[in-house]
Amino acid sequence: MRIVHCSDIHYGTEDPAMVAGFVRCVRELSPDLVVASGDFTMAGRHAEYRAAAAMLGSLSTPVLAVPGNHDLPVYNLVERFVSPLRRYRRHLGPVARDAFVGGPAALLGLNSARPWGLSFNWSHGRLSASQVRRADAFFEKHAGRPFKALVVHHPFQVPEDLPGFRTIGNGDAMLEVLARHGVRAVLAGHLHRQFQISRTLTLDSGARDVVLVQVSTLCSRRARDQANGFVVLDVQGSDAELTEHLWDGSRFAEGNRSPLGDAQS
Ligand SMILES: [Fe+2]
Ligand SMILES: [Fe+2]
Repeated sequence: MRIVHCSDIHYGTEDPAMVAGFVRCVRELSPDLVVASGDFTMAGRHAEYRAAAAMLGSLSTPVLAVPGNHDLPVYNLVERFVSPLRRYRRHLGPVARDAFVGGPAALLGLNSARPWGLSFNWSHGRLSASQVRRADAFFEKHAGRPFKALVVHHPFQVPEDLPGFRTIGNGDAMLEVLARHGVRAVLAGHLHRQFQISRTLTLDSGARDVVLVQVSTLCSRRARDQANGFVVLDVQGSDAELTEHLWDGSRFAEGNRSPLGDAQS
């Protein structure tokens, strides 16, 4: 089974050549699932959403999506607080799902974006206790699928050289649930940086590794310090091989290939 994981498409600042390059790549790679871990837009504008929906709908592949902090309306504050996901659901609901169960895999997507927060910076994300319970029930129900993964927008780990970012709220409670169910990976975005880190959790039943997979922004011109890109996961049983695809100026070129959880240089 093949999964393409992309994130932070950010319509509004998109590079059209990269969008076209991604669509071409997905056709060639012919994945069973495309995972898009949030920030489809810059400000939650209808026009940005329409472009994102059109692109995702053109892929002829099931799409699993979760909202990012940029997907809540920025300029309509009433809507932002009263029904923050109305636009997301209206535009992306017809072309994306929040869970995928098929072949060896069971993936669950959860919304970690919040319309407001106690800190000055509202871009931080968190998971609620009920979302932790939902993940517990989902992965219990699909215990027989060897490859299980959670999809969220916000990161469970933040590199030290990105001081403005925080790890996802309530992440430790979620990680404990994931480890208990043998969930292999968390697929996330928000940092606009690609890396994978293995987190080892010690449970009564022994140590379990959960791999945190972060991808760069797919096609925003606001790429941080890394080329735009996405990754491909080729799932074999309970594990997977991860292949980077990075923009080289004219196309997304295949880069490093490594077992899921191996540190990349
Ligand atoms: Fe982003
Ligand atoms: Fe974000």
